[in-house]
Amino acid sequence: MAEYKIAVIPGDGIGAEVTKSACAVLEEVAKRTGNSFAFTEVLAGGAAIDATGDPLPEKTLQIAKESDAVLLGAVGGPKWDALPGKQRPEAALLGLRKGLGLYANLRLAILFPQLRSASPLKDEIIGNGINIMIVRELTGGIYFGKRGIEASSETLEDGSPKGMEAFDVETYSEGEIRRILKVGFVLAMQRKKKLIVVDKANILETSRLWRKVTEEVRKDYPEVEVEFMYVDNASMQLLRRPSSMDVIVTSNMFGDILSDEAGMITGSIGMLPSASLGDPGKPGMYEPVHGSAPDIAGTGKANPLATILSCAMMLRSSLDLAAEADRIEQAVQDVLAQGYRTADIAEDEKAQILTTTQMTEKVIEAYRALA
Ligand code: IPM
Ligand code: MG
Repeated sequence: MAEYKIAVIPGDGIGAEVTKSACAVLEEVAKRTGNSFAFTEVLAGGAAIDATGDPLPEKTLQIAKESDAVLLGAVGGPKWDALPGKQRPEAALLGLRKGLGLYANLRLAILFPQLRSASPLKDEIIGNGINIMIVRELTGGIYFGKRGIEASSETLEDGSPKGMEAFDVETYSEGEIRRILKVGFVLAMQRKKKLIVVDKANILETSRLWRKVTEEVRKDYPEVEVEFMYVDNASMQLLRRPSSMDVIVTSNMFGDILSDEAGMITGSIGMLPSASLGDPGKPGMYEPVHGSAPDIAGTGKANPLATILSCAMMLRSSLDLAAEADRIEQAVQDVLAQGYRTADIAEDEKAQILTTTQMTEKVIEAYRALA
């Protein structure tokens, strides 16, 4: 029997509520399997700024590094919006990603069959359903490139001064591209053997390097059908034929944007889990795709399912408990099939609307009921 060390970062807004729910579900996994979880709660984001002045205290990163996996709620909120870049809550996320070497971000956009009507897309477009795995590169590109701001002495065509000039540089090395592409190809092999590489190769040099490396890496995965797609087109195709898309691999910035769009077309961003992974054996970080939703924090309206489903990803990818991951996913489906909803996913007044805690209890009941 193992004892798994889990660093828990509730963060801000609804983060505390949803991580509490997820830990309650993990306790059930412990009961069923005889393993145990040692949770260590640490600060990051706005909560850490308020307590220590630093969005990512050294201790948080240290404890995260020493854990088997990290569970994160969400960071950020209007309270800290006026702070400069490096002191903002979001800096904690970037610091955790870089500090833990989490270069692969897996974001799953699933339209749960029970929530089909929640999608803003027409029925004929949804077709057989939506199940898209977005593999976003997470520690490179424009997020981590050189940036700066300086006064320009130049003028515009009409002679008016340019004033201050800022820059953010997109950089990718072959090594960084190769390792994220491999994650994409491996997932494609486990799924439908189809991989879409999204870029802007008609403009960007980095994208052309992505294509060159893809041509090399694909030789190791001859069964995978590769499609290159410009990001502007990809954003259209997500609305036009989402049911034909399966695994998408892309850069940090494009993945950020497309994953929000993919989440939206499922109609239930409150349901979507994510995993951020580094090299094998290193702790992964698991978090819901939704943010800190400060407007509903403390009201009991938060949907805990994305965080609970993120724990399923944790059990599968970091803790070698794949059977329990399957059970949790099944329990969530069962609860939805029974008609239970949180407010964000309630289709109509007939839905049985539950609070965060009630929904968590229902998932636990459904999990216990599984063979
Ligand atoms: C996300 C978020 C973050 C990002 C922000 C909060 C820094 O939008 O995880 O997608 O841009 O990566
Ligand atoms: Mg984002």
